[in-house]
Amino acid sequence: MSKAETSDTHFLNSFSVVLGMLIFIAIILFGFARWIGRVQIEEQMSQPIHMSAVQKNTAPLARVAIAGKDNSALAVTASTSAAPAADVPKTGKEAFEKVCTSCHTMGLNGAPKIGDHAAWGPRIAQGKAVLYQHALGGLRLMPPRGGTNWPDATIRAAVDYMVSLNK
Ligand code: HEC
Repeated sequence: MSKAETSDTHFLNSFSVVLGMLIFIAIILFGFARWIGRVQIEEQMSQPIHMSAVQKNTAPLARVAIAGKDNSALAVTASTSAAPAADVPKTGKEAFEKVCTSCHTMGLNGAPKIGDHAAWGPRIAQGKAVLYQHALGGLRLMPPRGGTNWPDATIRAAVDYMVSLNK
């Protein structure tokens, strides 16, 4: 064997060893990354917030009653997702304090100010029916329903409350 050949063989041998080691390390890292990923996903999947979302999304759309079986789970229950009535005030005072006050306390845009008897006198003299009508339908810079979507009764109660403050 010539000297050149020996050094070639030597190079090839050590090169193969290094290459083998690198491949081995790559495989180990690959396995380790897969393992980390799985642990993370499992942890995320078991979060209660995720579980409840999955249950909600995978709940059957319809259930069928089967004759002779226990169908009590099909009992019609009151829907809890009815129109959200949460932010509709219960009293005129509450309604006033939530919305109407923003214009009517400072007299914004020429809104008749609370306590300004001179401004309210002629308006109250129109009668409640007209005040209700203007509060519900709007009047110049007074937005319909004060800009809310509250039911008529709530708006009327708010008018009653505002009138009671200016008597
Ligand atoms: C964005 C401001 C604003 C909000 C919010 C607002 N108002 Fe007014 N309101 C006005 C203005 C301005 C007038 C005066 C309109 C005019 O006479 O030109 C007025 C006038 C009125 C009048 C007198 C109408 C008349 O016939 O003279 C009533 C009653 C009234 N508002 C009730 C309410 C009630 C009830 C709410 C809450 C649900 C409310 N307003 C919220 C601006 C507002």
